[in-house]
Amino acid sequence: MSTDSFNNDSDFLLLTGCTGLLGRYLLKDLLQLEIPLAVLVRPTRRQSASDRVENMLASWEQQLKQQLPRPHVIESDLSEESLGLSTEAEEWVKTHCSSVLHNAASLSFVSGPRDAEPWKTNLTGTENLLKFCRDTEIRNFHHVSTAYVCGARQGTIYENELDEGQTLSNDYEWSKLEAEKLIRSAEFLDSQTIYRPSIIVGDSENGFTTTFHGFYAALQLAYVVSKGLKQLPGDHQDLQFRVTLDGTEDKNLVPVDWVSSFISYTVSQQQLHNQTYHLTPQNPVTTQTIMNVLTSVNNTGDFTQLVGAETHVENPNEFERMFYENMQVYSSYWKNDPQFDTSNTREAAPHLPCPSMDEDMMMMLAKAAVDMEFRWRDLPVRTEAGITG
Ligand SMILES: NC(=O)c1ccc[n+]([C@@H]2O[C@H](COP(=O)([O-])OP(=O)(O)OC[C@H]3O[C@@H](n4cnc5c(N)ncnc54)[C@H](OP(=O)(O)O)[C@@H]3O)[C@@H](O)[C@H]2O)c1
Repeated sequence: MSTDSFNNDSDFLLLTGCTGLLGRYLLKDLLQLEIPLAVLVRPTRRQSASDRVENMLASWEQQLKQQLPRPHVIESDLSEESLGLSTEAEEWVKTHCSSVLHNAASLSFVSGPRDAEPWKTNLTGTENLLKFCRDTEIRNFHHVSTAYVCGARQGTIYENELDEGQTLSNDYEWSKLEAEKLIRSAEFLDSQTIYRPSIIVGDSENGFTTTFHGFYAALQLAYVVSKGLKQLPGDHQDLQFRVTLDGTEDKNLVPVDWVSSFISYTVSQQQLHNQTYHLTPQNPVTTQTIMNVLTSVNNTGDFTQLVGAETHVENPNEFERMFYENMQVYSSYWKNDPQFDTSNTREAAPHLPCPSMDEDMMMMLAKAAVDMEFRWRDLPVRTEAGITG
């Protein structure tokens, strides 16, 4: 595929958050598009930034049966001043990078003070990155936001809308809204391209995922409950598992591979920049479909029932109590989604429609997560520092 945004070898794109779920797909897709890439990566206690990237690429190469080019790896924490970069690293970026794709974020839904997550990375980190772009003369900013900057609004949400005085459901949404506003107000930028995915789930081809939030958290809890039930003596005739939903609520789930291919394509096509894109499915799934999948995968259909969104579960049994306590963090999403207008997205890439998020797709995603036992680690690889992973 031809790219018109990156014309020579010293025209690098600087990517943040490449070690996350979406980031690892962006890393692979952008490298496959032959876009010269530099990545800002945090080291962990056990691994250097370079080793983390090497491990991920080794996994991709094994899966794709194809070698990939290597990005320029820079160790960095966005929440630190100057992103924690040495003067040398900053000079390198100034010489080589013309654009940034800011994908890193904290997905913590827990409320905290402004110097804690999710504010520390999502707002202070974005502020630090913007200042860094101004200092290093990076003028093209691509930003991964979220469709849920619309907060608790209902009805149709348009791509050109942002702050409509809406109530935000949690600090994560709030920090993402503030970050998007900050980017839009950065006058030194030549272009600001905003991508707003809804709820990201695994790969539409094979169900692969590295994180297990939202839908997966509900699936995992149902899985644990069903295992607990199998160990109970008796036939569990009286048991009930009451779910406080109508079944008609819409949820907007999108597969990670599609989100990444849309973003990578758009980054590569200059005429598509300076726009906002809702990355949401053509048809949302209903909570009834999600329930069908959860009960079918876990074999809990006999005693699970949707009892209506307005119902309060009286005298919850031990399984219901465990489920609701653990799902508390997602309580603001336990409702109908609004309708996301996707005019810009459909017009920009008619050849890249979102795969159909139907019951078969949801079953495949759920089975893959159960097969993975709700965890993932890259394969260890041999580097100069020894075996890592
Ligand atoms: N997942 C969803 O359902 C969803 C929906 C809508 C929008 N989004 C947006 O999509 C983007 C990617 O999300 P994801 O699901 O791929 O998240 P993820 O798997 O949790 O990955 C987050 C990435 O950000 C990096 N990061 C976090 N804090 C950082 C810091 N202070 N300095 C440097 N790097 C930092 C993480 O690095 P480490 O590996 O070092 O932790 C990781 O690479 C985010 O902007 C998110 O807001 C996600």
